[in-house]
This record gives sequence, structure tokens and C-alpha cells, in this order.
Amino acid sequence: MTKQNIFDTKLNNSGERVHCAYMIKKAVYPGSLDPITNGHVDIIRRGLEIFDQILVAVLENPKKKSLFSTKERVAMIQEIFAENENVEVKSFHGLLVDFAKTNESKMIIRGLRAISDFEYEFQMALMNRKLDPEIETLFMMPSLNYSFLSSRLVKEVSMLGGCLEGLVPGEVEDKLRDTYKTTPKTNSI
Ligand code: PNS
Repeated sequence: MTKQNIFDTKLNNSGERVHCAYMIKKAVYPGSLDPITNGHVDIIRRGLEIFDQILVAVLENPKKKSLFSTKERVAMIQEIFAENENVEVKSFHGLLVDFAKTNESKMIIRGLRAISDFEYEFQMALMNRKLDPEIETLFMMPSLNYSFLSSRLVKEVSMLGGCLEGLVPGEVEDKLRDTYKTTPKTNSI
């Protein structure tokens, strides 16, 4: 059975072949994603090895100043995963647990890069559990190559005209260059 099939047949206790439905395992991967980096992409790809579907949830927060609008952030991620029908992208506001429940998921994926991420993530995971004990948080580590990477640093490097090679997908690099009006540089090492 492929991961996408939700119906199959199996033998029941009397030896009769019956139809049965399998639950599609969907995980929500939330974040500001302003913009998505190769570290986020790496976590989504790893998530797809475990779950049938990943729903990327882009935080819409009018109080938090973002470089890219919610619409732009969603569009960039959709473009990156255009070939992958198991990745869906939506924006959300309000409580993450409510969004997960509305979208029939009981799993939240968060990436952990270093110990420094842990305290914030731990608090968030336990708060989410308090709000909805049925929803679990799964922490995943990105490839070591991306353990230093953050959207904030990517924006800073881009603003100052630094090399973005290997840090963000091409679609994001183009958008950043456009926004900061910088020309691509190559690595000096
Ligand atoms: O990429 P980020 O900015 O670290 O993502 C943070 C995010 C979006 C996961 C977090 O801010 C969030 O879940 N916001 C929704 C509001 C919410 O549910 N708050 C209560 C739980 S801590």
C-alpha cells in the first residue's frame, strides 16, 4: 500500500475480506517562516518520511513586523513544494492547537537546532499540551549543515549583500535579492 491510499482490504476474524480505512497521518509544521530557509525545507522533507502529509502553517501576526507578507510567505513555500502533493501550505492566526484540530491533525513538528532553542520550544510544547492534551509535539533536528541557520540571519546577510548559496531555496533568494536590491555574490571560501 502506498502512503497515499486510505482504503485497503484485510481479513477479519472470520476470514472474510473487508474494506478498511486507514487514517492519513498529517502533521502541522508551524512557523513565522519569514522567509523559509533550507533548514525548514530539510525538516519538512524529514517529516515526509514519517507522515503522509505535512501541513505547513504560516503564522499571520499583524503585531509582528515581517519582511514578507503572509501571502508572499505562503506563495514561496507553495512554489518550493509545487511538485510535492503531500505538502500543503496555509496561513493561520489564533491558537496553533485550534488550527491543528480544525485541520484534523494531532501532531505538531518543530525543528530543534541547538540547546539554545530548547527552552522556548519546551515551554511552547507544554503550553500547547495544556491547551489541548490530545496534541503532541515532535521535535526534529535538521541536518548539521543547517544548525546555524535562521530566517533572521538570512535576512541580515541578504540585506548586507552576502552570499546566500546553500542557505535558502532559489525562489527565496530571488525574492530577497529583489527586496534588498542586492546582486548575487558567491562564496569567498
Ligand atoms: O518560527 P517561529 O516564529 O518560532 O514560530 C512560532 C509559532 C508560530 C510556532 C508560535 O508563535 C505559535 O504557535 N503561535 C500561535 C499562537 C499560539 O498558539 N500560542 C500559544 C502556544 S505557545
